[in-house]
Amino acid sequence: MDLTTRLGDLDLRSPLIAAAGTVGSVVDFARVGALEHYGAAVAKSVSAEPWPGRPAPRLAPAGAGMLNGIGIQNPGIDVWASEIGPRLGNVGVPVWGSAVGRSPEDFARVASALAATGVAAIEVNLSCPNLEGTGMFALEPKASAEVVAAVRSAVSTPIGAKLSPNAADIVAVAAAVTEAGADFLVLTNTVWGAAIDPVTRRPRLSGVIGGLSGPPLKPIALRCVLEVHAALPGTPIVGCGGVRSGSDVVEYLLAGAAAVAVGTAHFAEPRAGRRIVRELHRYGRRHGVRSLAELTGGMKPW
Ligand SMILES: Cc1cc2nc3c(=O)[nH]c(=O)nc-3n(C[C@H](O)[C@H](O)[C@H](O)COP(=O)(O)O)c2cc1C
Repeated sequence: MDLTTRLGDLDLRSPLIAAAGTVGSVVDFARVGALEHYGAAVAKSVSAEPWPGRPAPRLAPAGAGMLNGIGIQNPGIDVWASEIGPRLGNVGVPVWGSAVGRSPEDFARVASALAATGVAAIEVNLSCPNLEGTGMFALEPKASAEVVAAVRSAVSTPIGAKLSPNAADIVAVAAAVTEAGADFLVLTNTVWGAAIDPVTRRPRLSGVIGGLSGPPLKPIALRCVLEVHAALPGTPIVGCGGVRSGSDVVEYLLAGAAAVAVGTAHFAEPRAGRRIVRELHRYGRRHGVRSLAELTGGMKPW
C-alpha cells in the first residue's frame, strides 16, 4: 500500500506522526525509536521564556491509559533554538516544532524562532492557559483564532492548530482557526482527568487534574475527527489519541484524518511505528486498498 499522504502543502512519506511531548526533543528519541517509518516527529512544546513545569508526581497510570501533568516544562525558545535547533537536520525524519504561550505575541515569537531553525511545520499547541482569558485557549474559538492569526502573520512555514477535546464545541474552534490561517488541524490533545490514591488519599498528580492519553482517549478524539471532518471536509486533519495499531490508524483515516499521531504508545514500545506500518501494509493487502487516499473520510453509513 502506498503510505504517502498530504497535509495541505506538506508531503509526508508516511501517515504516522510522532506526537509532541512523547519523543522529547526528537534528537535523543531518534536513537531508540523507529522514526524512519514516520512522516514527521513533533518536538516537545516550547514557550518564549523557560517554564519550570509542575513538581512530581507528574505521570500516573490510569486504567488502560495514562495521566500526565507535566506543565509543559521546557527551557524556553532561546535555549531550544541554540541547543536543539542545530541538531534537527540529522535525525532522519522531518521535525515539526510545537509552540505554546500565554498570549498571541508569545506564540508568534516562539513560532518565528522555530521557523528560523528550519522545522518543516509548526504545531500551535492551544491546550495551555490563556492569561488574558478564562481557561485554556483551545476552549474558545476567538482566543484560539487570535493565536493562530498571530502565528500566521509571523511565519510562512505550514502551521497546524492542535485542539482540545475539552472544548464544548470543537467544530466552532476548528472553523475559527482554519479561517485564521491554520493549514491543518491536530485532533486532539489529552482530555482532562484525575486519579486519587485510596491509601494516601492524595491525588496521583501534584496538579490534581491532568491530561488523559492512550486508548481511553481514542473514541473521544475519533468523535472530534468525525465532527470536524463533516463540517470542514477540505481541512486536513491529523488524528491523535490512543493509537497503538494499524487498525487504529485505519479508523482515524476512515473518520476523515489524512495522517495519524502516535504518542503514549511510545512509552511502552518506542519502536511501535515499525509494527504499525507493517500492520497497515497487511491491512492493505487483505482488503485490496492501494493508497491511504482511498480510506480518508471513507466511513460507510449504516
Ligand atoms: C507525557 C506527555 C507529554 C506531552 N507533552 C505534550 C506537549 O508538550 N505538547 C503537545 O502538544 N502535546 C503533548 N502531549 C499530548 C500528546 O502529543 C498527544 O496529543 C496525546 O498524548 C494523545 O495521544 P496519545 O493517546 O497517542 O498519547 C503530551 C502527552 C504526554 C503523554
